[in-house]
Amino acid sequence: MPDYAFLHKQFMPLSEAKIGVLTHALHYGTACFEGIRANWDSEHDRFCLFRIQDHYKRMLGGCRLLRINLPYSVDKLCQLTAELVERSGHREDVYIRPLAYKSSETVGVRLHKLEDDFLIVVTTLPPYLDSENGVRSCISSWRRVDDTMIPPRGKICGSYVNSALAKTEAWENGFDEAILLTQDGHVSEGSGENIFLILGGKLITPSPSDNIIIGITRDTVIKLAKNELGIDTIERSVDRSELYVAEECFFTGTAANVAPILEIDHRPIGTGKIGKTTAKLQKLFVEVMLGRNPKYADWYYPVSPKAPIQSGHNRIS
Ligand SMILES: Cc1ncc(COP(=O)(O)O)c(C=O)c1O
Repeated sequence: MPDYAFLHKQFMPLSEAKIGVLTHALHYGTACFEGIRANWDSEHDRFCLFRIQDHYKRMLGGCRLLRINLPYSVDKLCQLTAELVERSGHREDVYIRPLAYKSSETVGVRLHKLEDDFLIVVTTLPPYLDSENGVRSCISSWRRVDDTMIPPRGKICGSYVNSALAKTEAWENGFDEAILLTQDGHVSEGSGENIFLILGGKLITPSPSDNIIIGITRDTVIKLAKNELGIDTIERSVDRSELYVAEECFFTGTAANVAPILEIDHRPIGTGKIGKTTAKLQKLFVEVMLGRNPKYADWYYPVSPKAPIQSGHNRIS
């Protein structure tokens, strides 16, 4: 199944979606992006886009940080995305990657006096971490980029070099994922996920001031823990050593879902198996994320398939 894109205000097959080699964002990372899941609901023959409005609200925040002006509201961005998914021809879970970027083809580091553009790609996403069986992690030798350097809350492309350095170091050392600490040594997050721990029976996650991305999965898990299990989440700074002595630990993210952490720096977490609360949250999350829990209908954006996009672009107004 070929993939599809929305670029330069047109829908087109991905193979036809090209940008110039001098594009500012390519050279300087001056862009921000989102990752959104559209899950295929075979029972109702439609996609369910999960918390798409929240993803676009976050992206527009990143645009403000980068002084990117898009001519689209959250509603319009959702409509464009829905149309791309509708016409993609897929009948399976897909991953949506919107990108708002400095599009001028010019050399020179700055944010001002540059043109802006917006694209969306729809593609399939292989499992990112082994959420079913759990992952082995390590503390990275790289520190998390600080809000005073590149604001992490913006999902800014350039800041992902920080994540990439940590991820590859972890992988080359035989781990599945890295955990980054802040400059002052507190736990921040994984290279592409937020992190939670259960310590002394309490559910804890690093607070936004520890340079995390304020994850939509993180927020979903906090709400599910409260509403469905009656567990409050404590948002506070977390020491590295608290992870080692925690009863349970897990990552959360759009790509990773809820991924249990079985081991950190060769130390088993709790029993070294998937913890009870983690397993409960994982099950609740998957049901909700797949659009199967009517109680959370506000988070769902249903989209029914239409005729696929053909070659020859389709311009929108
Ligand atoms: C560095 C980082 N932290 C956390 C997250 C989790 O955010 P979300 O749950 O909104 O996908 C992501 C994924 O976007 C990420 O890239």
